[in-house]
Amino acid sequence: MMRITIIYGNERKGSTYNCVRILKKELQNLGSVEFIEFILPKDLPHFCHGCFNCFLNGEDTCPHYDLVKPIVDEILFSDGIILSSPVYALDVTGAMKAFLDHLCYMWIPHRPKKEMFSKTGMVITTTAGAGINPCKKTMLNTLKYLGVKRIYSFGARVKAYKWENIAEVNKIKIKKEIRKKARKFYSATINREILSYRKFTKILFNVMKNMIKNYDDNTPDKKYWKQMGWLDEIKPFS
Ligand SMILES: Cc1cc2nc3c(=O)[nH]c(=O)nc-3n(C[C@H](O)[C@H](O)[C@H](O)COP(=O)(O)O)c2cc1C
Repeated sequence: MMRITIIYGNERKGSTYNCVRILKKELQNLGSVEFIEFILPKDLPHFCHGCFNCFLNGEDTCPHYDLVKPIVDEILFSDGIILSSPVYALDVTGAMKAFLDHLCYMWIPHRPKKEMFSKTGMVITTTAGAGINPCKKTMLNTLKYLGVKRIYSFGARVKAYKWENIAEVNKIKIKKEIRKKARKFYSATINREILSYRKFTKILFNVMKNMIKNYDDNTPDKKYWKQMGWLDEIKPFS
């Protein structure tokens, strides 16, 4: 069974939630899919304090580790990840951004998780009028820098404050577009082991490898890369 973790960037069961609901239904029409869901800010009601503990002393020293760990564990255990957020002030919600900040320690330039390199991702956003691209980009950047292998995105300009007020013709268009994206996401997730790796991932990994080699031996990032064998010939991708 395919396992997908969904992170909702807001608690409202509005337009973004309904787009994810359609995506879930389409995915389940394609095969057997299990969803694990986290709702923000409920499941992580904190901003990153900027203490640098995750970078310098290990992620388990983050003051919010108890809340971040279960989400990261589910992501690592899943085949694919869906990040969803409505547009607030031309970008993601504060709750989504606060969550993404808590993942920086596992970006490729720090201590990326090997498991992330074989996963797929999808980002979903809705806006009344503007901001689809910057909102998508914020979520896409995180997936890219975590090493995710294939990433898809969907954004809808809904011209409404709530799902019920969206014009029927627009809802039909949204459904059609999500169905298309669902097929691509499903097919990539099923075939994720045989998909080629992103050029971006390979280049960034090699750049960081050369930089990290010159770090002091005691830095957590260098210790981690060494332990993974990534400072020698081993790579998290083939
Ligand atoms: C605090 C806040 C900020 C928003 N900022 C924007 C914005 O910058 N541009 C825009 O077009 N719509 C903006 N909107 C409208 C929402 O993006 C839009 O209605 C979205 O579909 C709501 O999603 P939801 O129903 O899932 O909550 C904002 C809404 C809220 C509540």
